[in-house]
Amino acid sequence: MTIEIDHRGQVALVTGAGAGIGREIARWLARAGATVVVNDLRANHAEAVVAEINREADGPAAGGSASAMVADLRDDDAIDALVAAVVAEHGRLDLAVNNIGMLPRGRRPKRFVDYRGDDWRDIVDQNLTLAALCGRAEAEAMLAGGQGGVILFVSSGETTRPSPFNSIYAAAKAGINHLVTSMATELGPNGIRVLAVAPGTTLTETVAAAFDDDRVAAIVESTPLRRMVEHDELARLSVFLTSDLARCITGQLILADAGAHLSRTRPANQTPG
Ligand SMILES: NC(=O)c1ccc[n+]([C@@H]2O[C@H](COP(=O)([O-])OP(=O)(O)OC[C@H]3O[C@@H](n4cnc5c(N)ncnc54)[C@H](O)[C@@H]3O)[C@@H](O)[C@H]2O)c1
Repeated sequence: MTIEIDHRGQVALVTGAGAGIGREIARWLARAGATVVVNDLRANHAEAVVAEINREADGPAAGGSASAMVADLRDDDAIDALVAAVVAEHGRLDLAVNNIGMLPRGRRPKRFVDYRGDDWRDIVDQNLTLAALCGRAEAEAMLAGGQGGVILFVSSGETTRPSPFNSIYAAAKAGINHLVTSMATELGPNGIRVLAVAPGTTLTETVAAAFDDDRVAAIVESTPLRRMVEHDELARLSVFLTSDLARCITGQLILADAGAHLSRTRPANQTPG
């Protein structure tokens, strides 16, 4: 018997999919047959991912297809407009992955006592408020469609242990972990599953630019599987969790972190992960 993950006929939206982890989630959802909307604020990145997916879809392992919707989701109106555009163009929304996060431009990890009000507001906006507002608009579209769906938030392994110098980022991401329990309870009767996934440290462009070799070696050394997480590994988990194979799973945080949550408090971080 062959077990297949089949997203054919499903419409998926992935935010911040022009690079890093979001890009891989978009590619893997398309490989499983979904029609994927690639959102990013960087038009050239979004379009490159769309071209990559559509090239792959024409090849021997024919999968789904993709289109780009360029928007900066820091604006509430942009979130509602994006979700409305997905439904207008494709007639439905089945899967939504809320992936945007990390520290906003200009914010750095620092000592807890050095964080000020504008740091808190910016980091919580980027990592919790923006995701929650995306979830709201997506849930509304799924309720209107009446066919159920899956809303997946990208949280962080930093929520499973103390995160010195990244206290606000970790607290904001931890807010997502709890939000999914409330959303899953409210939306479950309508066939909508809500989950959070968390990668361990993954050397995406943003993280690679901030980590030196010593920092990478320290993470590898403190991780049970003695490795970092590859770009596609959270995507493999996400494609399963959004599929029918996972149809009874909702309201949880699930990690793809090479066991990092089992290690003790990590050494002081240079950037969130
Ligand atoms: N990389 C890691 O080690 C790691 C670990 C744990 C959690 N995470 C989480 O995974 C998610 C993805 O991380 P990544 O490392 O791939 O990030 P990344 O910075 O490499 O990519 C994020 C993408 O989102 C886009 N983006 C940012 N703000 C946006 C906005 N307002 N509107 C539209 N697009 C926007 C960027 O242009 C970029 O293409 C984040 O939520 C992050 O917190 C990452």
